Amino acid sequence: MHVLITGANRGIGKAMLDQYRAAGADVTGTQRGIGELATMDVTDPASVTALATSMADTAIDLLVCNAGVYADKGQSLDDGYPHQMWADGLATNVTGAFLTVQAFLPHLRRAKAGKIAIIASQMGSDTRAPGGSYIYRASKAAALNLGRNLATDLKAEGISVGIYHPGWVRTDMGGAAAEISVEESATGLITRFAALSPANTGCFETWDGQQHPY
Ligand SMILES: NC(=O)c1ccc[n+]([C@@H]2O[C@H](COP(=O)([O-])OP(=O)(O)OC[C@H]3O[C@@H](n4cnc5c(N)ncnc54)[C@H](OP(=O)(O)O)[C@@H]3O)[C@@H](O)[C@H]2O)c1
Repeated sequence: MHVLITGANRGIGKAMLDQYRAAGADVTGTQRGIGELATMDVTDPASVTALATSMADTAIDLLVCNAGVYADKGQSLDDGYPHQMWADGLATNVTGAFLTVQAFLPHLRRAKAGKIAIIASQMGSDTRAPGGSYIYRASKAAALNLGRNLATDLKAEGISVGIYHPGWVRTDMGGAAAEISVEESATGLITRFAALSPANTGCFETWDGQQHPY
């Protein structure tokens, strides 16, 4: 089994990479900077294409679009949320996920039953509207929508797409007060990815296996 995980140098992405490797899977972890993982900045189309091309002969069984940013925590409605913050947030969380899926579709098609996992957030659900974090919420709502429509388009090819809330996780993004560890989140998500199939493609699930309202 070959798994590709974006943003795997820290946080939930790194925990998933570690657990898949410990279980014996082939894992391509990516990071946007130079380091020991494959270099891929999801906001840079040339960088995404370059990695896809270099892996042209590889079948990918599972693509995990995990890379994400949350820069607008605590911004003021009156004078916060600058234009560039919107551009950067959407470029990573939405366009980045789409371009990654598009570039690696040939690799997913080469696998027997390819799967795509979009790491969104419960903050992207239209059923939750506590206010604030406009950029992050809008980006994760779009990521959820992207996953739902990819599920429709790819179903006939046997490629399944799941959208996931990883929990409130103690990472740089989630903060020290968050509810669960990266290990707990990764273990739960990996169990959910294993259960993803054409029968439940388009699902929006939490790390611990509950259906999340869209
Ligand atoms: N933590 C939570 O409570 C929580 C809750 C709901 C959803 N999520 C989602 O879960 C995913 C992982 O979150 P996390 O908590 O592990 O966040 P994190 O600790 O902040 O890590 C984010 C990862 O994404 C990478 N990344 C950011 N921009 C990138 C880009 N342009 N290209 C490639 N990689 C990029 C980061 O790389 P650098 O090291 O280079 O910055 C890092 O590896 C995100 O999609 C997040 O929105 C998290």
